[in-house]
Amino acid sequence: MAIPHRKLTVVGAGYVGMTCAQLCAQKGLASEIVVIDIDEGRAKGIALDLNQMAAIEGFSSRLVGTADPKDTRDSDLFIVTAGLPRKPGMSRSDLLETNGKIVTQVAGYVRDFSPDSFVIVVTNPLDTMVHLMRVKTGFPPKRVIGMAGVLDSARFSWFIAEETGAHVQDVDAMVLGAHGDSMVPMTQFCTVNGVTLGHLVTKDKISAMADRTRNGGAEIVNLLKTGSAFFAPAAASVAMARSILNDEHRMLPCAAFLNGQYGFEGIYMGVPAILGAEGVEKIVEVPLDTESRIQMQKTAGAIQKDLELLRNLALL
Ligand code: LAC
Repeated sequence: MAIPHRKLTVVGAGYVGMTCAQLCAQKGLASEIVVIDIDEGRAKGIALDLNQMAAIEGFSSRLVGTADPKDTRDSDLFIVTAGLPRKPGMSRSDLLETNGKIVTQVAGYVRDFSPDSFVIVVTNPLDTMVHLMRVKTGFPPKRVIGMAGVLDSARFSWFIAEETGAHVQDVDAMVLGAHGDSMVPMTQFCTVNGVTLGHLVTKDKISAMADRTRNGGAEIVNLLKTGSAFFAPAAASVAMARSILNDEHRMLPCAAFLNGQYGFEGIYMGVPAILGAEGVEKIVEVPLDTESRIQMQKTAGAIQKDLELLRNLALL
C-alpha cells in the first residue's frame, strides 16, 4: 500500500505510546514512525517488534526506536504520551511537577528540531500539560491540541451502546470540559442513529452513565491495578492525528485553546473542534443549557487551579 512520505513521532514508549505507534503503522499514517523514550532499549525493542509485525500485517511504515531527540528532526506530527501516571500517595502537584518537567523538555526539542509540526498532548493532567506545551514551544495554539474529549466521549458511547443494545458506532456522544472529575457529558446532544437519548433511556440511567463516564479512567485503573487505560486513549489520539494529517475535517471534542469561545479566555479546555490540515480549524460553539453552563464554569475553575499550581512551581 502506498503511504504518504511523512514522519510522525510518538513520545513515550509506555502502553499508550506503543499502541499509538502500532495503530499509526496499521493505518498507514506515515512512512516513518519514530518512538522516542528515555529507556532506549524499550523504544528500540518496540520499533523492532513492530517492523517485524509488518511482515505479517503488510503495513509499509518504517519504525525507528531511539532515545535521541535529534532523531525526531522534521517530524510532521508528535503524539506526546510521556509522563508518569499517578500512584497511590502521590499528590496532584507531584504529578504536575514531574510531568511538567518532562513536557517542558519534550517541548524544547519539538520546537528546535520540528518547528512546523503539530503536537497532540496526551500526558496528564491533560489540560495543564497541553497549555504548558503550547507556551514552551511558542507554537500557534491551532497546532498544539490535547487529547481527552474523544476518549471520554468514546467511553460514554460504549455505556450508551450497552444500555440501549445498539451498535456503538450508531451512538453519538459528546463530553466537554476538563479531562478529570469535572468533565461535562453533554447528555442533551447524545443520539443513537439520530434518536435523542432521552427518548430511549430514563433520566436516572442517563445520569448514572454520565457519572460512570466521569470515573471512566479510574474504573480501568482499579481493574488493571498496575496502570491505566491504553487502547482507547491511543485510538483517540490517532483519530485526531489522522484528521489533521489527512485533512479529514472531523469534528472531534479535544482540548483546544479558547480565545473567548464559551466565554473563556486564554485556557485550554475540551470543546468540539474541526481538525484538518491547519490543526484546529474551527472551534464549534454549541448552545448550552443552564446546567451545562454551570458545569463548564466549574470545569474551567479546576483547570485554572492546576495552572496556578504550575505557576507556583515556576514551571509556567
Ligand atoms: C484515562 C487516562 C488516559 O482517562 O487519562 O484513562
